[in-house]
Amino acid sequence: MENNNSFWLNSFKLPNFNKLDKNINADVCIVGGGLTGITTAYYLSKKGYKVCLIEKDNLMSKTSGHTTAKITSQHGIFYKYLLDSKGKEFAEKYLSANEEAIKNIMDIINIENIDCDFEKKNAYIFTEKTTEVQKLKEEAHIVKKLGIVDCNYINKINLNLNIEGAIEFKNQAQFNPIKYANALIQSIIQNGSEIFENTRFDDYEKNNDEFKIFTNKKYSINSKYLVLTTRYPIINFPGYYFLKMYQEISYVLAIKPKNKFTIDGMYINSELPTLSIKTAKYNDEDIILIGGYTNKTGTEDDINLRYKYENLRKKALEIFGDFDILYKWNTEDCISLDKIPYIGEFSNFTENLFLATGFKKWGMTTSNIAANIITDKIINKQNNYEEIFKATRLEPIKNREELNNMIKQSIKSLVVDKFKNSKDILNDVKNDEGKIVMFGDVKVGIYKDPDGNVYAIKPFCTHLGCELSWNELNKTWDCPCHGSRFEYTGKSIDSPSIKDLENYNFE
Ligand code: FES
Repeated sequence: MENNNSFWLNSFKLPNFNKLDKNINADVCIVGGGLTGITTAYYLSKKGYKVCLIEKDNLMSKTSGHTTAKITSQHGIFYKYLLDSKGKEFAEKYLSANEEAIKNIMDIINIENIDCDFEKKNAYIFTEKTTEVQKLKEEAHIVKKLGIVDCNYINKINLNLNIEGAIEFKNQAQFNPIKYANALIQSIIQNGSEIFENTRFDDYEKNNDEFKIFTNKKYSINSKYLVLTTRYPIINFPGYYFLKMYQEISYVLAIKPKNKFTIDGMYINSELPTLSIKTAKYNDEDIILIGGYTNKTGTEDDINLRYKYENLRKKALEIFGDFDILYKWNTEDCISLDKIPYIGEFSNFTENLFLATGFKKWGMTTSNIAANIITDKIINKQNNYEEIFKATRLEPIKNREELNNMIKQSIKSLVVDKFKNSKDILNDVKNDEGKIVMFGDVKVGIYKDPDGNVYAIKPFCTHLGCELSWNELNKTWDCPCHGSRFEYTGKSIDSPSIKDLENYNFE
């Protein structure tokens, strides 16, 4: 029977940690318990720093726990883009940084003796379209010339698809990210650092040289360094990352084919819609993760969303024949406008505040790169790659139209404050349906659950006021501006927003 949750999170149970229940001191406070936060805490605690890692839900429960877990420097067709837009040295460094990250992960696995289903695999970008072939050939040629990874252009791959060509990167890898994270978590605790779950960052202030981080409207952490490893930065100013990034949702099916299959690599296509295919270990046997069909958060209509899994199912049937669906899930990822992650100082005006974001779906290697850059910043050591990921670089911001939209929506949201209840507007909404309904001039977001219970929210994002759209697939309110997501109850689930939506009561 299929399970609407990540395969990884069901494959291994991580330890639970308490809420922060007192005021504490630490050398470093890390906000965000995904792989970047955990790896940064691992490196720093090994070096003797007292780290306090806080996570608003559970460790690894967001993007890191919903990945496809490819450990690779092959980030789609990307090196031609880097060469053209940033130059040869930049492209070389980006590739080296990611290759080094693969090695760092292997080193950690060896040092900590981690049993995490680690396997060396080749990675492939393939195309089923003749119009893409030239692009693939060019990319392979560029990567080969950079000379850092063993790369080939090939005509055949071990997948039951009529491909026109493919690029192979040798010596890449895959693992179970939860089992890997578990070993790092044990090390963090053994080294005297602390982890708190269900502990929400509310705000911070800085006095002299020290940050005071407020959590759950109650307790605080004093620390010299503050590191933001939430997928999307939860502090708006003065970083202005919301003007430089957007979020996308991708969908994954974990399937067990009924026929025997052999695939020996990790695959992704070059065209749209994106299709990613690889294996994962399930009770010591291989299963298939097939994913893709990405959309920008809050922008697809309900019908399209409903077909995401169906499209993946059809594609899987074409490749593997009949199968059982074990798990299905979707997750958000954050993308910067110049496609390069932001890692390092949060801004030029906030000393000792660091962040890592915009991993563009390649979080396994990038989380390790980020953890190393931030650790080196804190221990005052030069890092070979910090310049290319510099978060304070000047890049284009989003267009004026979107800015105007945000401002307009935020003004409009203020008008909704004095909403008066009415049962009439509910007639427009069916059971198990969510939609925005007009009440005079006022917009109200309504969801009726299958039993007809009504949940009504003010449908404007608590980040910067954009109007939300209903996500029929996940039963969430999604923000098209920067990708915040809220449960149908209004509870904030995905950053950059950290505040819940305002509720209305119907009598
Ligand atoms: Fe920024 Fe909604 S996520 S306005």
